[in-house]
Amino acid sequence: MQAVANLVQDSMGPVPVAANPEYKHRPDGSTMKALAWFGSEKVQMVDAPIPDISEDKDVILKVTGTTICGSDLHLYHSEMIGMQKGDILGHEFMGVVDKVGPGVTTLKPGDKVVTSFQVACGTCRYCQKKFSSMCDRTNNSSLMQSMYGQRDAGFFGYGHLTGGLPGGQAEYARVPFGEVNCLKVPPGVSDEQALYLSDVLPTSYHAVVDTRVEEGDIVGIWGLGPIGLACVKWALLKGASKVYAIDTQPARLAAAAALGNVVPVDFKADNVTKKIHGEVPGGLDVCIDATSFHEPKTLLHKVEKALMLETDVSETPNEMIWLVKKFGRVGLIGAYAGYTNHFNIGALMEKGVRFIGNGQAPVHLYWHEILNDYILTGKFDVSMLVSHRVSIEDFPKLYEKFDKRFAGVEKVFVQTKFSEPPSKGFPQLTKVDDWANKVL
Ligand SMILES: NC(=O)c1ccc[n+]([C@@H]2O[C@H](COP(=O)([O-])OP(=O)(O)OC[C@H]3O[C@@H](n4cnc5c(N)ncnc54)[C@H](O)[C@@H]3O)[C@@H](O)[C@H]2O)c1
Ligand SMILES: [Zn+2]
Ligand SMILES: [Zn+2]
Repeated sequence: MQAVANLVQDSMGPVPVAANPEYKHRPDGSTMKALAWFGSEKVQMVDAPIPDISEDKDVILKVTGTTICGSDLHLYHSEMIGMQKGDILGHEFMGVVDKVGPGVTTLKPGDKVVTSFQVACGTCRYCQKKFSSMCDRTNNSSLMQSMYGQRDAGFFGYGHLTGGLPGGQAEYARVPFGEVNCLKVPPGVSDEQALYLSDVLPTSYHAVVDTRVEEGDIVGIWGLGPIGLACVKWALLKGASKVYAIDTQPARLAAAAALGNVVPVDFKADNVTKKIHGEVPGGLDVCIDATSFHEPKTLLHKVEKALMLETDVSETPNEMIWLVKKFGRVGLIGAYAGYTNHFNIGALMEKGVRFIGNGQAPVHLYWHEILNDYILTGKFDVSMLVSHRVSIEDFPKLYEKFDKRFAGVEKVFVQTKFSEPPSKGFPQLTKVDDWANKVL
């Protein structure tokens, strides 16, 4: 599948853009440790050239913190097309500025910053509205253009469908349009508090704001990985009177239940629609999908997916459309990539469901607000999302265990040789082997 996608892309040629994936190397040929993709369930550490300033507005970071995301699992399973062997992964990272290009005036070496998972140009019509994930000028994928009619922004470390820009699961990273895509971390904010501004916090916040959770709403959240768990917290902060939190991982269900007016629903033990409908026959006000399209529940979808009769699974959208009230709101923040069968379009139309593709989240729209109003004030305690800390050399093992959700693994802080020691209230350094055999 990857080979065909890459052939199609090659035949069409790249769209000309302002952020190119090719980068200059340091003249002395020095190398760094980085995590690279080599195929389905094959990632490994490589020695890669340290990036140098390649465009005037570039910033080079010494990475002080990075992590793994549920989205990386789609790459790990080779389910996002446009991957090439040797691609450096990682779209969530932060660091200390090492070098700046001649066009950069507001950042200098030594500044601590967190980056957005998307690369935005800062000037196009989307960037002017801070819709940074939709920037028109940073993703060269003509394949995405032909699949979706438009292109998302380029993303760090997410393959060539999103621009092929090398990622930050590495000791150094190049940030195109550095002033736009780096947020300065103010004193008093720890690396662990800052790192997740790159994706999980703005993404989950976007899901809740964009699907419009209002005071008193009864909300359903499907999938309680870091994104879904943070959605539960945001929904409660926005005044939801009750949240149904659906997953099957005991540790994840327990973490959600600990947040307040939350009813955990185990989708393997319970019939989700029957249980929730029994308690809320009038329907949920808002439903949010924070699951992952690579995990079909029913035999029908398992077979259809295996036979490539569909790329994505409609089970969760159908549950949401069925359980939501008339004219209720349903949001998709969990990733989908292509086509699905058996979608209940009838219920969608007849009930007037507001069905919202939340899109890749526009991090720049929210990251100041989250930092100032929720992290600095302590209203959102980031430590609830962070379960482990490991070193960058452990990345290949981390992918394997994160995929299998061993030992209650949620967000992991991955340190490099440039990291500061762990902050108070966050996990100490461990080796994946230390906890990998504990299945929860
Ligand atoms: N739109 C964006 O900007 C954006 C950004 C980051 C992540 N994402 C996506 O959000 C999703 C969640 O990310 P994450 O890091 O929390 O992932 P994760 O893989 O850690 O969590 C997904 C959870 O969904 C649960 N799940 C699977 N099938 C389910 C079902 N049928 N019903 C209920 N729960 C089910 C799994 O048990 C798991 O706990 C992923 O698809 C990821 O790609 C989107
Ligand atoms: Zn992510
Ligand atoms: Zn732009």
